[in-house]
This record gives sequence, structure tokens and C-alpha cells, in this order.
Amino acid sequence: MRILVGVLVLSLVGCTATKPPTPKADAVPHVGDDWFVWRGQTLGITADQARARDAKLPDGTDGTAPPDGTLDANTQMEAAILWSQECARCHGQEGDAPEVAEGQAQPRSWGGMAAMGFLMGGDKMRAGIYTTIDQGKGTMAGWGDALSREQMWALVAHIESF
Ligand code: HEC
Repeated sequence: MRILVGVLVLSLVGCTATKPPTPKADAVPHVGDDWFVWRGQTLGITADQARARDAKLPDGTDGTAPPDGTLDANTQMEAAILWSQECARCHGQEGDAPEVAEGQAQPRSWGGMAAMGFLMGGDKMRAGIYTTIDQGKGTMAGWGDALSREQMWALVAHIESF
């Protein structure tokens, strides 16, 4: 019985994982103030309102993730652009980290079982990944100064979709 439930859960997980969108090769991510202007336009609010909205999102410290509906197709496309322009050179386009030179830190690959473990981890796990992106880890610098909270949560969702 337990095995049966396990199989059921695993197949459900497999079905819910949506593939990330593919950005155009020349797409440029919105960073700093530019993000809030652009995000405001997509939501029909001002840049200041977009900034206030962003400041209300969790910052990874209390183990929660943003409420459903915060991220949308615009943000997910933005995360895909960020990923391919800024993260893929170290983490691989599909989250399969390329081989690194001896002595360099090897980022973890997220495909297959790793991605599944991530999905099972829930909001606490998401918050941990968010904190790593925000503050950095080991040889990876943090992105918190350059990216909005929503962008970093979108990157968490992007990683989750591998
Ligand atoms: C210069 C290379 C480099 C770039 C660029 C980079 N990372 Fe990393 N990243 C690493 C390395 C190396 C680690 C492992 C650090 C450790 O465990 O000491 C890591 C770790 C992580 C982790 C923690 C999980 C793990 O693999 O241990 C996350 C999440 C992450 N990176 C996300 C991102 C995101 C999102 C971006 C782009 C916004 C990004 N990284 C850009 C090198 C990079």
C-alpha cells in the first residue's frame, strides 16, 4: 500500500512540473529601477506601487513563499531570461551544472531526482533556495542588490521546473 501511494505521489509530481518558457536569444532582463517600471506596466500600476508590492513579498527569512497568483507568465519569462543570461553559464541551461575546473566549486545539478526532492520540500525549501539566491553561497555572489524579491521568487520557480 505504501509503495502504491508513493508511486501515485511521484506521478502527480511529474504531471504538475511545467516546463520553463524559452526566451528569445536577444532578450534583456529588467534590473534595478527598470524592473519596477516594467513590472508596474504589466500590472497596470505605477513603479512606486510595484515597489511597495514587492516589499510585501516574503524575504526568505520566515520559511514562507509568496501567495499563489503573485507570479505570472510575465515574471516567469523574465526569470527564464535572467537564468539564461546570468545563471546558465555556471548552472547549465537546464540546471545540469557543467563540469568545472579542478579546485572550483561545483554547483549542484537540479535535474531528475534533485528536482523531485526540491518539489517535495515545500515552502521552507523554496525559502532556503531564495536565501541562497539573495545572499549567495560559497563562491557564488548574492543577487539581492540587483534583483527584486519577485524576480528571485520567479527564479526559485524556474529552478523548480527543471
Ligand atoms: C560564477 C558562477 C555562478 C553564477 C553566475 C551563478 N551561480 Fe549559483 N552557484 C554557483 C556555485 C559554485 C554554487 C555552489 C556554492 C557552494 O555550495 O559553495 C551555487 C549555488 C547556487 C544555489 C544553491 C544550490 C546549490 O547548487 O548548491 C542556487 C539556488 C543558485 N546557485 C542559484 C543561482 C541563480 C538563480 C543564479 C543566477 C541569478 C546563479 N546561481 C548564478 C555558481 C554560480
